[in-house]
Amino acid sequence: MSSGHDVVLDLDDIQSGALHERPSPYVGRYLLLRIEDRTAGRELVRRLVDIVDHGQPSAEPQQDAWITVAFTYQGLKALGVPQESLDSFAPEFQQGMAARAADLGDVGESAPEHWEHPLGSSDVHVALAALSPDAARLQAVVERARRAHQELPGVDVVWSQDCYQLPTGRTSFGFKDGIGQPSVEGSGLLPSNPKERPLKAGEILLGYPDETGELPPMPSPDVLGRNGTYIVFRKLHTKVAAYRQYLRAKATDRADEALLGAKMVGRWQSGAPLALAPDRDDPALGADPQRNNHFGFGDDLRGFKCPAGAHARRANPRDALDGEGSVNVRLHRMIRRGTNYGPALPEGVLEDDGADRGIIFVFAGAHLKRQFEFVKTQWLNDGVFIGAPAEKDPLVGPDEGDGTFTIPTRPIRRRLQALPPFVVTRGGEYCFAPGLRALRWLAELQT
Ligand code: HEM
Repeated sequence: MSSGHDVVLDLDDIQSGALHERPSPYVGRYLLLRIEDRTAGRELVRRLVDIVDHGQPSAEPQQDAWITVAFTYQGLKALGVPQESLDSFAPEFQQGMAARAADLGDVGESAPEHWEHPLGSSDVHVALAALSPDAARLQAVVERARRAHQELPGVDVVWSQDCYQLPTGRTSFGFKDGIGQPSVEGSGLLPSNPKERPLKAGEILLGYPDETGELPPMPSPDVLGRNGTYIVFRKLHTKVAAYRQYLRAKATDRADEALLGAKMVGRWQSGAPLALAPDRDDPALGADPQRNNHFGFGDDLRGFKCPAGAHARRANPRDALDGEGSVNVRLHRMIRRGTNYGPALPEGVLEDDGADRGIIFVFAGAHLKRQFEFVKTQWLNDGVFIGAPAEKDPLVGPDEGDGTFTIPTRPIRRRLQALPPFVVTRGGEYCFAPGLRALRWLAELQT
């Protein structure tokens, strides 16, 4: 157990995946399983109780390899969770991501009918994530996962995906990712942005008060919900060649290309935030965890340094929005544990090589609707909140070749036109990662 400001988290009961920073760099694998036979499914869960990670992060580096498990609504159903209990989960979780697609902007090429099989179907029951600092240790941890489901004829692996992080932390578009994260009371981790107080634990974990002072809605029975968290998992293909071609066509020269790219994200490729490095990249700043997230937008309300429409500013407007109208930015924060997949497109290449590359976006939080869905629909897919109703997120928004992006500059603003989609949803799921006691409860279900 570890104490925060005014909360004590039951860390021994909480899976490590959401709260703890992972090794960097890392390699990992996601596995999706289908439970055909209820008894075999419960045996799988019984075995998983012994291998999922929880508790304080260990000081031993070899312990930095870990397994996290989460279930879809269909998965809980397949395990025989009583209907009354299934009905007590968040409605969005019960519906599943595919049913939410139109609202989330997963249309056209990103629509569920084009998703990778079996993503979004009722065949996805259990999601396992194995992460480790290197390939050798990943092998060992994947072997632990394999032992959990081997010789269980009623449990099948239906999908797997490898992921990795480069030592630079950069993802397919070339940007360092995973920098902006909230800290959580009681987790023992200090905020990377000292300007943002740690979030109440109930924003991320069920069973603790959240920012409203209330407990997040809890699934019943209590043992099933407590110390759990909702997980959003999305495979997002990135059109890196199209993105590079677009920047090449719009920029005056290479330096301008880097600037336009940074304006779209809100950070330079190194991770240096525009708020602190508005004119040119500062790789030392980007690499410095003490400084690279220590900023707000309060002194840049008009967006001359970082446009209000930039991806990271939309996703977390910080003090630019706080207190305005009824918006409380703290109610729309999230833990991101996204990873990178697929081979990098070599530097300078502008032609598409046909390879599949992108990010596996992973969200952890207690509120699917007011955190993930709100940010995706109101802040990334819409521009009303920044006074530009026709504009979507220039990097990840569902533009259809008609997108615009305004970059405030003096004396006249710059406007990028005809933005195509750079990200295609290949599928995803809403999951629930239970605490350890909840896993035991699931393993012991009798009905
Ligand atoms: C392929 C799709 C995406 C790419 C390539 C991408 C890339 C990035 C990059 C480069 C950053 C800045 C570095 C950082 O702070 O970690 C960032 C920040 C962020 N992104 Fe994304 N992102 C994607 C999708 C999404 C989605 C779907 C959401 C939420 C619904 C999201 C939420 C966030 C948040 C909350 C931040 C941190 C903002 C902050 O605290 O400053 N991203 N993203």
